[in-house]
Amino acid sequence: MNRSVIIGTGSAVPKKVVTNEDLESIVDTSDEWIRTRTGIKQRYIAEDGETTSSLATVASLRALEMAGVSPEEVDMIVVGTTSPDMIMPNTGALIQKHLGATKAFGFDVYAACSGFVYALAVADKFVKEKPGSKILAVGAEILSSITDWQDRNTCVLFGDAAGVVLLGGSQESDRGILSTHLRSDGRLWELLHIPGGGCVYPPSAEMAEKRDYCIRMQGNEVFKHAVRSLAGVAREAMEENQLKPDDIDLFIPHQANMRIMKKVAESLEIPIDRVYVNIDRYGNTSSASIPVALDEANRSGRLKRGDLVLLDAFGGGFTWGAVMIRW
Ligand code: ACO
Repeated sequence: MNRSVIIGTGSAVPKKVVTNEDLESIVDTSDEWIRTRTGIKQRYIAEDGETTSSLATVASLRALEMAGVSPEEVDMIVVGTTSPDMIMPNTGALIQKHLGATKAFGFDVYAACSGFVYALAVADKFVKEKPGSKILAVGAEILSSITDWQDRNTCVLFGDAAGVVLLGGSQESDRGILSTHLRSDGRLWELLHIPGGGCVYPPSAEMAEKRDYCIRMQGNEVFKHAVRSLAGVAREAMEENQLKPDDIDLFIPHQANMRIMKKVAESLEIPIDRVYVNIDRYGNTSSASIPVALDEANRSGRLKRGDLVLLDAFGGGFTWGAVMIRW
């Protein structure tokens, strides 16, 4: 059976670190509130010249280097992002240009914090169709560009980052991506959305003044849906593969809030020491959070061949999804 296998991982963050104490001088908040309500201690924030495609390019080069694959060998670049460099061209095409991936085609998928899991699911299908393919699945965000820095409800949460996996084909039936599970419910869109910038409410001076190009979220409502949906789709992934919570070696949930991750792990009966957590250092980096965590776990030796890894994402839309991987 053909499966897609992760043959390289990479990640990148901007240079500048912004601590909770730094935010105390911008909005009415405290390090104590942010740490206890979210688990976040610091985040990376882009400065001039650091863009979604530039971070993603650095992360892609790291993944390619790990696998010993050159940019010219890449067939496809699929990017999950909600903060592209521009509306057009797509971020995948820009990464293709930066890398010199002359053979590849690139495009974006648009699923907020679930963007990477959606991108990985799409990449998986392409590799299965053409087992010789080399595909970069990317999650990259400069969320700081769509953050309302006057809104303490949201601005303390987000950070900028990029994470990438390089997928290749394998005939070894026991390894690779075992299953992907994608879900959405557009009826709940208003709980987490960006009101302006699209055709419904195009850019205007008024829109800019009201900062309506920024993320608006009803945090506590999103919290409840996130816990339920993350647990539900993770359970589905385990059932489809006839696995029990005890079989999961590493659970990598979207890093939105430490309390969400704990509740989901509790509900699934996955011990907290098997849950990958790095939200303290990065904040919520939307579609970048899972591939950054996966790259850290991979490079630090936390993942061994044969380990079962469960990825679990939730974001605006609402969108959510899980991926089961045999490492
Ligand atoms: N500093 C201090 N106080 C604050 C801050 C802050 N930064 N932000 C909010 N508060 C206050 C509120 O004003 C409120 O005060 P009040 O009681 O006087 O009105 C109080 O703290 C409690 O506010 P809640 O919103 O109820 O706080 P909650 O415990 O729900 O935590 C949070 C808020 C962290 C946003 C949480 O709801 C959450 O994590 N939600 C889910 C986020 C998520 O999963 N998003 C999905 C992915 S994101 C994406 O797709 C881009």
